Amino acid sequence: MKLNKLAIAAACLLSAATVMADKKATDTTPAEDLKLYRDYFQKRFPGVSMNEFGNGVYAIDKVSRDSWVAIEDFPPYEPMMEAGETMWNTPFANGKTYGSCFGDDPAQRKNYPYWDSKRKMVITLPLAINECREANGEKPLKYKKGAIADLLAYMAYESRGQQITVEIPDDPDALAAYNEGKSFYFARRGQLNFSCAGCHMESSGMHVRTDILSPELGHTSNWPVYRSKWGELGTLHRRFTGCNKQVRAKPFKAQGREYRNLEFFLSHMNNGIEFNGPSARK
Ligand code: HEC
Repeated sequence: MKLNKLAIAAACLLSAATVMADKKATDTTPAEDLKLYRDYFQKRFPGVSMNEFGNGVYAIDKVSRDSWVAIEDFPPYEPMMEAGETMWNTPFANGKTYGSCFGDDPAQRKNYPYWDSKRKMVITLPLAINECREANGEKPLKYKKGAIADLLAYMAYESRGQQITVEIPDDPDALAAYNEGKSFYFARRGQLNFSCAGCHMESSGMHVRTDILSPELGHTSNWPVYRSKWGELGTLHRRFTGCNKQVRAKPFKAQGREYRNLEFFLSHMNNGIEFNGPSARK
């Protein structure tokens, strides 16, 4: 089985990933992590610019990149983006709109995720969308696909070109949430006993079945994604769920604490990369 070969190859690599994984999450600061992490990927994929990493596997594989560029010429997510724009512009039953929560600007990507120091939690954009709906007497939307993905696609499109700049504030609770996300990323789980880092750092660029594993750097920039496999748009937390399931681990709840903290950690690691969602993937 290819995964076993992968595990052996991964175990042989003495890398920044191992350095980060073997230590306790609290041993290095977010700033030190960011440096280790960027250096790791830039060394592993020389010549790939920071922004290119936002294109996932297409940043490192010429063959699949060519067919992807052709797909992006007629983006399969365009109708969903239009549905999202209509949602943004359509008043709730109380006459207010999403603009009443987001200051009339749909280009909100750069503001999320962030640490809310009063509520002591990470707030992501999908969470803020549902909180806006509930504050206006509307039902919350499901988090993995459907209407929320449409709205996120429109907001992402309007935000293209903004940079990821997620800072970890000087607050022990914020640091604890970040460290929880980091530990999650390096923890082995599931029957196959793989961590996120095992696939997307130590084995990035290698094959698993018909896939090439994308580098983690850039993983939070391009959402939501239209995947041909799904035949529809899905959110980042839907993808987290899928990646947990493929190592036969029990997934966590979309927008639950675990995945929000994971997104917080990953987003900080992706600082400096431009938002380029929505995007298309295999
Ligand atoms: C057994 C290997 C494996 C593990 C473990 C794994 N993934 Fe994945 N992941 C994949 C494969 C295969 C794909 C599809 C090809 C690609 O883009 O890497 C993928 C895709 C992704 C993508 C989409 C990338 C894009 O550009 O669209 C994200 C995000 C992601 N994984 C995050 C995670 C996170 C977070 C974890 C840990 C919870 C994780 N993965 C664990 C194999 C894995």
